[in-house]
Amino acid sequence: MNRTPLVAGNWKMYKTIAEARQLVPELVRGLKEIQGVQKVICPPFTSLMSVKALLEGSGIHLGAQNLFWEKEGAYTGEVSPTMVAEVCEYVIIGHSERRIYFGETDETVNRKIKAALEVGLIPIFCVGETFDENEKGLTVSVVRRQVEAGLQGIELRQNGHGDVPLLVAYEPVWAIGTGKAASGEFANEVVREIIRPALASLFGEKIAGSIRVLYGGSVKASNAAEFFEQTEIDGALVGGASLKADEFIGIVCAAAVI
Ligand code: 13P
Repeated sequence: MNRTPLVAGNWKMYKTIAEARQLVPELVRGLKEIQGVQKVICPPFTSLMSVKALLEGSGIHLGAQNLFWEKEGAYTGEVSPTMVAEVCEYVIIGHSERRIYFGETDETVNRKIKAALEVGLIPIFCVGETFDENEKGLTVSVVRRQVEAGLQGIELRQNGHGDVPLLVAYEPVWAIGTGKAASGEFANEVVREIIRPALASLFGEKIAGSIRVLYGGSVKASNAAEFFEQTEIDGALVGGASLKADEFIGIVCAAAVI
């Protein structure tokens, strides 16, 4: 199965507009020559428009970190799918930080994914078990439940190029921001044994084999190759290391040579 690698940077709640204006031109310069990898950056809402202008013609795509599922209305503080789609192509949905700090559930994640797909956004759908769940041997049941519930009632079709407009990011919570990445082998096994079979049961083998699955959790330039050389891992969702130009460029380089 030929899946184009993709590396996405999740800036989380980092970078003011002024700071983004420093980082993005460095990324554009450093990533210009790297072919064969799709590159996405996901800044906070406030800097999306400035970053979009700086990315023009660079081939780097833009993503948001969240949306609300309603089309419009009296929802103070929220941003609609249409509003996000005016500016971005991608949107991160169901990140563990949103599940943990903002009460997102499988059900709300599912509503957000449906709403994103309806307006043509490509969701980067995050799943992953916590440290406790991992310790208790619950990785299989938790990740399977997250995938099945998050994608329940969704129909997916391949476009003319065989691409499916959905990415899954396997981000074990214990590996996020801890400097303790999962091993490439462990992450690959989770994708092969849990995520792809769950996708196949929802969408059939062909679509499941076309969906790109990223790994996230303490990815940096020095360990990225360990993930990209795995058969089931098609790229990375990068947090901390996406805030430093040389690190992010190094990760994209590692994805290009595999
Ligand atoms: P870190 O790369 O900082 O561990 O964060 C991963 C992540 O949460 C990306 O969404």
